[in-house]
Amino acid sequence: MAHRTSAAIALLAATLGAAHATPDASTRAGWTRAQLAQLRAMAITELDPLPPDPTNRVADDPRAAELGRRLFFDTRLSANGRVACSTCHQPERAFQDGIALAVGVGTTARRTMPLAGMARAPFLFWDGRKDSLWAQALGPLESPVEHGGTRPQYARVIADHYRDDYEALFGPLPDLTLWDAITYVFVNIGKVIAAYERQIEFGASRFDRYVAALTTGAPGEGVLTDAEAAGLRLFIGRANCSQCHDGPLLTNHEFHNTGVRPRPELPLDHGRLTGASAAVSDEFNCRSRWSDARDRCAELDFLVTGAHTLDRAYKVPSLRNVAERAPYMHAGQLATLSDVLDHYNRAPAAVAGHSELRPLRLRPVELRQLEAFLRTLSGPVLVGGRTPPGPTQ
Ligand code: HEC
Ligand code: HEC
Repeated sequence: MAHRTSAAIALLAATLGAAHATPDASTRAGWTRAQLAQLRAMAITELDPLPPDPTNRVADDPRAAELGRRLFFDTRLSANGRVACSTCHQPERAFQDGIALAVGVGTTARRTMPLAGMARAPFLFWDGRKDSLWAQALGPLESPVEHGGTRPQYARVIADHYRDDYEALFGPLPDLTLWDAITYVFVNIGKVIAAYERQIEFGASRFDRYVAALTTGAPGEGVLTDAEAAGLRLFIGRANCSQCHDGPLLTNHEFHNTGVRPRPELPLDHGRLTGASAAVSDEFNCRSRWSDARDRCAELDFLVTGAHTLDRAYKVPSLRNVAERAPYMHAGQLATLSDVLDHYNRAPAAVAGHSELRPLRLRPVELRQLEAFLRTLSGPVLVGGRTPPGPTQ
């Protein structure tokens, strides 16, 4: 809070100061006052402090984050002893894997999602079928194609290898012959992994330095090339990207149908249509007895299910670091950024549901400018404010 307030005051002071100093401050570097405000709202410095997660009582306990970090890299939590979260969410690749369909014990039907900033997302997965990070973490552990193991097996790993650290957080391990006790330990595995994931955030990119330069009155021109700035102008203007990709993470955290073609070899995937219903009936959702705050589930209370508009709608991904993680979309259908921009330019009809896009009819030079802008969104991915240490450190 304090940080945000002082940043806001500094911004205000800079704006007021600049308005007195230069009569044309409202059109700095060719941006109008309204556009400058919009750019500022997209800067990483505008990110709110991480909101608490009342459903997870160890969410902000550093001991939980440390235990979660070790479990995130532990391949003993799998059917074949070879798969950890980090198999697909690789720290050196911004916590994803760079392939179209993720491979664990088997091959999945979706692309691995990057993790930075996702503690801020109300729903997780491409279809949003989980409503917290801890509930999400329990999914891959039991998925036959990801970790492929079982709850009793995972509870045993805790008893055999992490007993002291576990008991320091949650008290004595319960009797692991009872299913409820096993599930309780399993849930706590999710909660400590979530505590670790909460520390994964995006750092500043060249785009953020450009916005900082504009708002402090320094010449922003040197930070972005003319082509990159032209791409940014299209992004918030005629190309309409910021309708969905807005705010400091360049996502509205919602679900939209953008007509991305399904993979013909896979069963038809209905995206948010099935994801929203799954979140409501999930064994581990905010209202479940495993949640630490069952009476504060506003996201679930207001969730719309069953609507036609949800068919083949997918989570709007953050565009931070997007140039570093081809291929794109929920099943890696598009190989390059230029394929993605071609898709937006043509706006093909959806095979199910209804695409919300309209053809953009941008010229090739404009598509190149947009792509150049997207490449300015790359920056470091930080864990607890630092570059992540590898699995052995
Ligand atoms: C086999 C590769 C694989 C493994 C192992 C794996 N994931 Fe994932 N992860 C994925 C894929 C694929 C998705 C998207 C799946 C979907 O939408 O159905 C995903 C999605 C996520 C998301 C959602 C991000 C968002 O923006 O909504 C989080 C968080 C996550 N994984 C964390 C984890 C954790 C924690 C573990 C270990 C317990 C783990 N993953 C293990 C492949 C993997
Ligand atoms: C109506 C909302 C909406 C608009 C407008 C929109 N996007 Fe998206 N964007 C999405 C959704 C939803 C996805 C994921 C779709 C999927 O996986 O099927 C996505 C995915 C992407 C991806 C792939 C990211 C990844 O990690 O796979 C890029 C790049 C992208 N959008 C850029 C843009 C650009 C550039 C524009 C403007 C030309 C734009 N988007 C306009 C909703 C939107």
